[in-house]
Amino acid sequence: MPRTSPARKPGKPGRALRVLITAGPTHEPIDEVRFIGNRSSGRLGTELATEAARRGHRVTLLLGPVMMAMSDTRAKVKRFRTTAELQGLLDKEFPRCDVLIQAAAVADYTLDRVEAPGGVKLGGSGGKLRRQKSGLVLHLKPTPDLLARCAEARGRAGSGQLIVGFALEPAERMLSSAREKLTRKGVDAIVANELKTMDAKTIRAVVVMADGREVDTGKSIPKSRFAGWLLKTLGVSTVRPA
Ligand code: CTP
Repeated sequence: MPRTSPARKPGKPGRALRVLITAGPTHEPIDEVRFIGNRSSGRLGTELATEAARRGHRVTLLLGPVMMAMSDTRAKVKRFRTTAELQGLLDKEFPRCDVLIQAAAVADYTLDRVEAPGGVKLGGSGGKLRRQKSGLVLHLKPTPDLLARCAEARGRAGSGQLIVGFALEPAERMLSSAREKLTRKGVDAIVANELKTMDAKTIRAVVVMADGREVDTGKSIPKSRFAGWLLKTLGVSTVRPA
């Protein structure tokens, strides 16, 4: 979507929306025991799901392999571990949502093959790589861009769904990266935030939107408060006060 397009509204004010939120890391298996992962805690996506449910919307949270639990029983929770599993859930859930907020830290690469001198024994020990005296080379292949796939599916269906992604970047290129991702992925908004957001309880963010607006939190705010701020900024209003 070009950045000059009008602001997409997720629905009529006062109508309960089907809000789909993804959260947490993906784990890309190396063998049955080990994986390649990242430090995402899932806190932000979980806070967003809680706040969207509190606002009266029908929420589904796709939650990765984290300790974080979803305490609000109004939201439906489905768990994933790998990028492929998240892709399968999105294929099923995305067509029936009004709003997608992709807060999950999806791996950019997954394991293609393992290379070691003399070959690798995977299987002889129940799918666990054995230690070798020599080194081991992991060959990785790119994962599909799940957010861009959703935007393409929306284009094919001609639906009016609102699609929002995140960009976690070093402060100096936070905005330029977010603007580039907005166009490359064809989404309605990218929530740009700094690397130091990871593991923190607070967040400072700028929402870069396809209609050209850029809305800033101004300062760091608690993630629990940020959830309400972001939903309001995206036009996901309260339909049934708690
Ligand atoms: N994302 C996705 N599928 C991927 C990678 C990322 O859906 N395979 C989503 C993330 O969930 C996030 C947005 O795309 O909402 C931006 O993710 P990021 O990792 O910052 O962007 P990349 O496209 O991976 O670009 P780069 O690694 O070059 O920064």
